[in-house]
Amino acid sequence: MKCLEEVPGVGPKTAKLLSSKGIMSPRHLALFNPEELIELVELTPDRAERITRAARRLVRTRICTTAKDYAEKMKDHPRLTTGVKAIDELLEGGIEPRVIYELAGEFGSGKTQICHQLSVTVQLSRNRGGVGGACLYIDTEEAFSPNRVSAICLRFNLDPSHALENINVIKVINVADLEDSIKLDAIKLIEEKNVRLILVDSIISLYRAEFKGREMLAARQQRLNYVLDWLLRIAKIYGVYVVVTNQVLEVPLSYGETKRPAGGMIMAHACTHRLLLKRSKDSTRIMEVLDSPRLPYKASAVFKITERGVEDV
Ligand SMILES: Nc1ncnc2c1ncn2[C@@H]1O[C@H](COP(=O)(O)OP(=O)(O)OP(=O)(O)O)[C@@H](O)[C@H]1O
Ligand SMILES: [Mg+2]
Repeated sequence: MKCLEEVPGVGPKTAKLLSSKGIMSPRHLALFNPEELIELVELTPDRAERITRAARRLVRTRICTTAKDYAEKMKDHPRLTTGVKAIDELLEGGIEPRVIYELAGEFGSGKTQICHQLSVTVQLSRNRGGVGGACLYIDTEEAFSPNRVSAICLRFNLDPSHALENINVIKVINVADLEDSIKLDAIKLIEEKNVRLILVDSIISLYRAEFKGREMLAARQQRLNYVLDWLLRIAKIYGVYVVVTNQVLEVPLSYGETKRPAGGMIMAHACTHRLLLKRSKDSTRIMEVLDSPRLPYKASAVFKITERGVEDV
């Protein structure tokens, strides 16, 4: 891993200043816009502009390639299994890295259960559909359950205590906390603890609680966009997998879909693959493609939630 002083224009003093504020490496520095850097570290705008640009050059964030080379490169991006054949097939082999997946659905539709299962499957070896990585679970709803993880581990023949050590849980209480956990803590965990999967369960609840009423809507959407943009930057620069959960709103007097995901256009634009979870009979649930650049609209998969996690029907 490169050290901060390798960035042209960053001397020992600046490197110390940056790392005292939690900036880990040139790659981490390259994620920041100059304005964001100035908020965190005392620098002139000119200097912030110069060192962020130098960091981007050093880690080569901008890649120009032919479509042929791009297709070759995609083969190095393994799909992450969800542990459910029907869902993996729906997603064309599992979850792809470098993008954001949204799981939206009403209470009890299985969003948290799928997150728990992914926190286990990411740890599986490549030949079992995992990537041998650790997980970061950002829990905004007090939903994380070590017991559920342990039950799922048994199904995948993983030692629960070892698997739990590979799941880093961050509990956040407000939007600012969530932003810091993504901009700073997540990078530390990716760089130092081999975190390959970031889960945010849920992305929306803190915004709905903190920005109340119509007059706060524009501010809420702007802040939501900010955090999603950071997640996307991290996904791209570090090649990690990102899944966020979202609540749904009732659509009154609607003849078609009666529920739609919260977060409006901002969620719609920022999330690459949008999946809607629906309750069916008893433990059965349906996952349906709501919007995706690659997956067919309304294609669906059926799964069930059991004591052992999320399974095929
Ligand atoms: N140990 C278990 N055994 C069997 N089913 C379980 C178990 N634990 C949870 N479930 C099922 O999972 C459902 C909850 O799913 P989940 O927690 O994923 O919902 P969610 O979509 O995250 O909802 P919310 O919006 O409230 O967060 C419960 O309704 C129950 O049917
Ligand atoms: Mg939940």
